[in-house]
Amino acid sequence: MTATTLLTGQTLTFNARPGLTSPEGAAIYDSAGGVLIKGGRIVATGSTAKLRAAHPDAEEIAYGDALILPGFVDAHAHYPQTAMIASWGKRLIDWLNSYTFPEEMRFGDPAYASEIAGRYLDLLLAHGTTTVCSFCTVHPQSVDAFFEAAQARGMRVLGGKTCMDRNAPEGLTDSPQQAYDESRALLDRWHGVDRLGYVITPRFSPTSTPEQLSALGALWSENPDCLMQTHLSEQTDEIAWVKRLFPQARDYLDTYEMYGLLGENGLYGHSIHLEPRERDRLAEVGAALVHCPTSNTFIGSGLFDMAGLVAEGQRIGLATDTGGGSDFSMLRTMCAAYEVAQLRGQPLHPAFLLWLATAGSAEALRQGEHIGALAPGMEADICVLDLSSTPAIAQRSRRANDIWEAVFPTIMMGDDRAIRDAWIGGNLVFPKGAR
Ligand code: GUN
Ligand code: ZN
Repeated sequence: MTATTLLTGQTLTFNARPGLTSPEGAAIYDSAGGVLIKGGRIVATGSTAKLRAAHPDAEEIAYGDALILPGFVDAHAHYPQTAMIASWGKRLIDWLNSYTFPEEMRFGDPAYASEIAGRYLDLLLAHGTTTVCSFCTVHPQSVDAFFEAAQARGMRVLGGKTCMDRNAPEGLTDSPQQAYDESRALLDRWHGVDRLGYVITPRFSPTSTPEQLSALGALWSENPDCLMQTHLSEQTDEIAWVKRLFPQARDYLDTYEMYGLLGENGLYGHSIHLEPRERDRLAEVGAALVHCPTSNTFIGSGLFDMAGLVAEGQRIGLATDTGGGSDFSMLRTMCAAYEVAQLRGQPLHPAFLLWLATAGSAEALRQGEHIGALAPGMEADICVLDLSSTPAIAQRSRRANDIWEAVFPTIMMGDDRAIRDAWIGGNLVFPKGAR
């Protein structure tokens, strides 16, 4: 008989998107809740007392007043940039040329790719992140390394080979045909295997010729259930460069749209400096915009218009953008999202931030039926937060009058010390003592 496990503590999940400034009935919170797990999935949620009574044989893991949440979902990252995160002093294009491209060159070595993929996923788990959608490098073996490492840990992850055929060093470029052939072979090998999904991945318009964008557009039209990820309108210098490279395009988004790379399964990282036409088109097709706030402040890119984009009905996810982003932590990322929104006069409620980091990102990645919520049928990917992980946080959360006041200090000041445990598919993967 499959074992049944009952996690008890405070529980929090969302059954709809909360408002920007209030939980508005979207939050399901229980101060004495439980999550019943069997066969890798959540089979019941509810009050501790009711679940204990109905399932006396379940093994109970009692988390006391820790907060049980769906695992965090990082909707945009570059795992190959793990070892050069927090590199000093550059803006986007210089940062790519000085730090990123030299590091990505190293992934031609499959042993190095495996080492970093394993290190990266372990760092994610230590930070309570259970799913990520990552760029790999141009090397097919960097994709194999990433999926093999995720498979070994039982994780639901998404990723793809980063395609570039111009404006990048020779060791990091492919050709339109090679981008198509290698992406297709990787898609055939990995897409839908275990909990893995392949993502068609042109890096961004400046590093692809129209021929390469077209080839990847064709691959996407042949595999429309795959996601496609890229970057859009991150820095003003980059936008000016795109205008020079694609004089016939109406705007940056059009450089994707013209070549079949705009669609409802598209993920557009950053999306900061958008023109009205771009915003209209993104909303019309139901594409997802991915907000990367630590990256946007770290590389000096700009302030994402969360309130305006939410009001337009855009689909939005949240992400670290490791290593343009300055931390692996989705807590730090929520903190930065709060601060960026404050600079635009838009305070974001902790419910909205937590929704973005769980269900919101899961839905942006079209994974909302599998992950992102504590509900029967969902895969049991869970993060348990200690709301008093440091003396500074503890003294503030002791004053809290409700769960939102209790969790907000951890969002603003918390790091991996706040991650009490992470569960993947019903298995405890990161016991505190192992750190
Ligand atoms: N634009 C194109 N490539 C990248 C990258 O690796 N990181 C970030 N932040 N922006 C990009
Ligand atoms: Zn990125």
